Amino acid sequence: MEVMRIEGGQTLSGNISASGAKNAALPIFAATLLTEETCILENVPNLSDIWFMAQILQHLGAEVEQPDPTTWKITAGTIAHRAPYDLVRKMRASVCLMGPLAGRLKRAEISLPGGCVIGPRPIDMHLKGFAGLGMEVTVDKGYVFLNAEQASGNPIFLGGRHGSTVTGTANILMAAVLTPGETVIECAACEPEVVDLCNMLVQMGAEIFGIGSPTLTIRGVDRLGGCTYRILPDRIEAGTYIIAGSMAGENLTINDIRLSDLAALTDKLKEAGVPMQINSDNSITVSRSESPLKPVDVVTHPHPGFATDLQAQMSSLMSVTPGISIITEKIFPNRFMHVPELQRMGADIAIEGPNAIVKGQAGLSGAPVMASDLRASAALILAGLVAEGITWVLRIYHLDRGYDKIDDKLRAVGANIDRLPEKEMPNTQFELK
Ligand code: EPU
Repeated sequence: MEVMRIEGGQTLSGNISASGAKNAALPIFAATLLTEETCILENVPNLSDIWFMAQILQHLGAEVEQPDPTTWKITAGTIAHRAPYDLVRKMRASVCLMGPLAGRLKRAEISLPGGCVIGPRPIDMHLKGFAGLGMEVTVDKGYVFLNAEQASGNPIFLGGRHGSTVTGTANILMAAVLTPGETVIECAACEPEVVDLCNMLVQMGAEIFGIGSPTLTIRGVDRLGGCTYRILPDRIEAGTYIIAGSMAGENLTINDIRLSDLAALTDKLKEAGVPMQINSDNSITVSRSESPLKPVDVVTHPHPGFATDLQAQMSSLMSVTPGISIITEKIFPNRFMHVPELQRMGADIAIEGPNAIVKGQAGLSGAPVMASDLRASAALILAGLVAEGITWVLRIYHLDRGYDKIDDKLRAVGANIDRLPEKEMPNTQFELK
């Protein structure tokens, strides 16, 4: 296994860009199953989750090619309706195969994905949505069985106690585009990744109205065609680099981003006093402040609120911001796996239910730390950039699920970060702690 070695204290400056959005690319890959024609997807990030999804599509019978590193060509001519546990368990997002399979083949048999470290991840709202479309929904021996022979458009409400559901909205949308009649999804997720999926489906010939709003109206069509579609930039990756700039930047410019997708983050950073300049070319230039930042309270919400996927990274910034910041996690109330590891680096954070009370201080110290999930890994990398001494981040395969070459990108702007075989990590690092 590989580890990341970061020597803290370097200044980040120059230009850095986000790759295509993972959470848009995954359902968009699944959407290629809705047509027997070829779909060409551009600006696809190079991530292990994408490779898993490509493997599942191949298993289902699709022809999958990668003509260049960021372009994929997928033709789902004749496909099967069953995705087995062996493949699905590697990646939760494979649940969003249910919608396209049920839409096109009128049946689907998908293994339930199983546990997740960020907390319970039920799919009851997806199943409620499928049932609302008139499908027979059965859960048996770890599999979901959908029979959509009698499905028809209907009103569907997708609100839950934590808001809507992102992949649930994607699933119902992808089923509804090929289901006869009119489906109205109320309390649909408004995340930019859902909008991106809608835009791709419209290019394929789907009829969807209200895109970007919580009410999506879908008029089912008989068939969809192929398309060439460019995936939007990853707002979470960009947000992570913006936070990196706030912690260690001196004119770090994050390019090719959609600032409107990041308004909740930039607003909070402005409140904290981060020097930022929004440029006319969809880029933002960020620097670490010469005077101490102000602590802030952050509450995660569905889009356009503060994204849960940036909460861990924000905890790293608040750990080195003098004063008390409170972070409230409303989407995944147990998503604090990064906290014990940040504590190993000297952060003073207490967890009280869904709140993290961060007593920020001037510095952190480098330590060996364990990545537990994707965004927790990013938080540890950010902490390592400003910690005194060397931080070793273990289990970085989590990072490779969602950050395209983060080490190369950060090194190019001045970070001292290397990916090494685990055996190169000195044991003394552990003995010291
Ligand atoms: N929920 C239910 N029932 C459901 C579905 C969701 O109770 O049937 C709850 C969840 O437990 C959670 C909340 O509703 O409390 C929101 O879950 P949602 O379904 O929106 O999450 P998701 O679709 O499984 C996507 C992203 C996550 C991101 C969340 C929230 C993908 C592939 N994943 O997950 O991304 O955190 O939306 O924005 O799009 C990540 O990239 O690190 C990541 C975890």
